[in-house]
Amino acid sequence: MNYIGSKHKLSDFIKSTVYSVVGNDLSDKIFCDLFAGTGIVGRNFKKEVRQVISNDFEYYSFVLNKNYIENHLEIQNKEELIQELNDFPLIESGFIYQNYCLGSGSERQYFSDENGKKIDTIRIKIQKWKQNNKINDSQYYFLLASLLESADKVANTASVYGAFLKHLKKSAQKEFVLESADFEINDNEHLVFNQDSNELIQHIQGDILYLDPPYNTRQYGSNYHMLNTIAKYEQFEPKGKTGLPKYQKSKYCSKNFVLQEFENLIKNADFEYIFLSYNNEGLMSIADVQNIMTKYGNYHLEKIDYQRFKADKTENRNHKATTTEEYLHILIK
Ligand SMILES: C[S@@+](CC[C@H](N)C(=O)[O-])C[C@H]1O[C@@H](n2cnc3c(N)ncnc32)[C@H](O)[C@@H]1O
Repeated sequence: MNYIGSKHKLSDFIKSTVYSVVGNDLSDKIFCDLFAGTGIVGRNFKKEVRQVISNDFEYYSFVLNKNYIENHLEIQNKEELIQELNDFPLIESGFIYQNYCLGSGSERQYFSDENGKKIDTIRIKIQKWKQNNKINDSQYYFLLASLLESADKVANTASVYGAFLKHLKKSAQKEFVLESADFEINDNEHLVFNQDSNELIQHIQGDILYLDPPYNTRQYGSNYHMLNTIAKYEQFEPKGKTGLPKYQKSKYCSKNFVLQEFENLIKNADFEYIFLSYNNEGLMSIADVQNIMTKYGNYHLEKIDYQRFKADKTENRNHKATTTEEYLHILIK
């Protein structure tokens, strides 16, 4: 998934830095990815450590991580379930088609009509299967994550869901096909939470804490609202042109709150090694982060030049540079 702040392309940098600081053998370590997003960082450590703890307070991210991180054994009847869902006759009464597709008269066009109907059809079936115990929890989250990933590929947006495009873009005209969201098979058991970082940190402990909070004022709950709507599938009255639901706001996206929030997090963290990803255009300056972290142990900084996240041209952008500096702030507490 093309996700704001995704660490997909920084995976090698993060992994090699963690190894160089913590040591060559992580097999008895607990690794926590506290702002997990797509889950890519935890996924990269799933086979390396004893346990991954993964958390994000957005529900779509929780679903993705329940699949990519917590699921660790082969999904039974995987291919058959996917095939069956792809083959159901489409319904027109579902929430996405009725509220976010043009053909229903909603005046919104986040998906083509056929794709909106298909997303509804599949989402409703997954819930029915869960209620009838046709599928277990692992299958449920695997199928939901597959739906989110596949729906995101045909969304008619400029990368994020803050607005839809007037005309159906090429990728949105393609037929929606449910594809499996495959995860690493692994003997260890992993944990996934859907909580505020600063709340959860008071109840967990481990060895390596990886922090990747939002850098700026763009709230994930508004930028990815459609993924939450598909994942939760609860009825609400979509408002205005964009049909945005009420969404929760992160204190890490607020200049007024971020420093206090970050310091509390570091103070309460019961982890020996703490790694923070942050770039040079974030709400906290490098000096802000350094001042806080040095209070709690041995601190140093690693840096890499990085190609920034690119949205379509239609999105308003404040920064023109195409590369940015990404930092890993390291604290041995
Ligand atoms: C920069 S993104 C993480 C990206 C992730 N590392 C990846 O590669 O996909 C920041 C994440 O923090 C989450 N978030 C923001 N505030 C949070 C909070 N207070 N507690 C937990 N998660 C939060 C957002 O939902 C978002 O997914």
